[in-house]
Amino acid sequence: MQRIHLKSPGNWINDPNGFIYYKGQYHLFYQYFPFGLTWGRMHWGHAVSSDLVSWEHKGIALYPTKTDDRSGCFSGSAVENKGKMYIFYTGVNYTDEDPENINVYRNSGFSASQMMISSEDGVLFDNLRDKKTVIPVIREPAVGSDVNTRDPKVWKGRDGWYMILGSTVDDKGRFLFYRSRDLEKWDYSGYCTADDAGWMWECPDYFETDGRGIVIFSPLGIAAGSSGYESYPVCAQAEFDEEKCSMKPGKIQPFDIGNDLYAPQSTTDSEGRRTVIAWARMPEAVNGRWIGMFCIPRVVSISDGHIYFRPHPNIVSAFSREITDISQSSDGCFRLVKEMAEGESIDIGGYVISAADRKISADRSAVFAGHEEIGYIFETPELKGGYHIDVFADRNLIEVYINDGEYVLSSVVYGTGSEITGKDYSLYTYGGQI
Ligand code: FRU
Repeated sequence: MQRIHLKSPGNWINDPNGFIYYKGQYHLFYQYFPFGLTWGRMHWGHAVSSDLVSWEHKGIALYPTKTDDRSGCFSGSAVENKGKMYIFYTGVNYTDEDPENINVYRNSGFSASQMMISSEDGVLFDNLRDKKTVIPVIREPAVGSDVNTRDPKVWKGRDGWYMILGSTVDDKGRFLFYRSRDLEKWDYSGYCTADDAGWMWECPDYFETDGRGIVIFSPLGIAAGSSGYESYPVCAQAEFDEEKCSMKPGKIQPFDIGNDLYAPQSTTDSEGRRTVIAWARMPEAVNGRWIGMFCIPRVVSISDGHIYFRPHPNIVSAFSREITDISQSSDGCFRLVKEMAEGESIDIGGYVISAADRKISADRSAVFAGHEEIGYIFETPELKGGYHIDVFADRNLIEVYINDGEYVLSSVVYGTGSEITGKDYSLYTYGGQI
């Protein structure tokens, strides 16, 4: 059982996949390399939760079995139809496998098709008999790439099923849209692209909330030239026209200010709230055992054209026990709430949050030693007003929710202490015992 931040059960994980509330339980699948601490031939790991707070690992759900996914089951999504769970994912076949390590490819040498597998209960998947290739490798470069087309996110529209895929044409990222009546036969129906937003778009997610369309995606190359990761996820208001299968994203907003999160994926929770979770990229393993974790689930909403991300109410209510010192926290998990004053700083176990010039910044240099290239200091854009911080933290991930979700700044950390230098804050830990 794991609580608050779901972590790799051992070895490597990346993107959240197939996030769904199904038959009274939350299912979170994820990209998983079960044999080592680095990325490799992808499997889908699986965890379930009744409340988005406590998670139980269920082992491996999907693994390579077919020629089309012989080299990996890449990211994808899940939907429910007539009581069954349907998973859509990208099957990968390495065309230039590294002879010294068959878990990886060389020179962009792989092909990608879109595949489907179903389950009666969301736990048992027949990897041998039940997989189908629903969209074969694209062979028309003007439509999409045979290599870099992936990460199907499927949703039910007003008039059938829709799929959004990330792809690239002429070195520009694009979304491909497909339409289906029965989830098996998919027709290519449109695309959307944009200038100055990276050369390939990964992990697209389209949904409606507060009566508006929103798209979240992870464009490769958007951060080229700056330090750290090549890419970070973004979101934008984007109305999708079902008839034309077209979309016009508005102004792009970062998903998180800290740059560590990647590949967010959303679902609706038991109350219909749009809830998103994302992978926290980690430059080194913890205790030589596990690498990769997920942020807490965040509820998405939009107001005045700005997209807000708030901690899921189940997480907030789990942090019910007031404490005076981090050392009293359950399993190192705590929540710190504070109103910052202009020019004020608070040092939370070596992680320093400061408020000045209508911005909040965080400096992790003392608790992220040796990884300067990824970045130590992150700062919000100008805030609308106020410096309220709501911090959710454990030993390896600190999430700072600013002004009720106007921005979130999240940082992977190693070696945080339990001293707090600062004043006028409230501290809580979650109620349960380990
Ligand atoms: C994003 C990503 C996806 C892909 C998966 C492979 O992190 O590159 O586009 O499906 O990871 O693990």
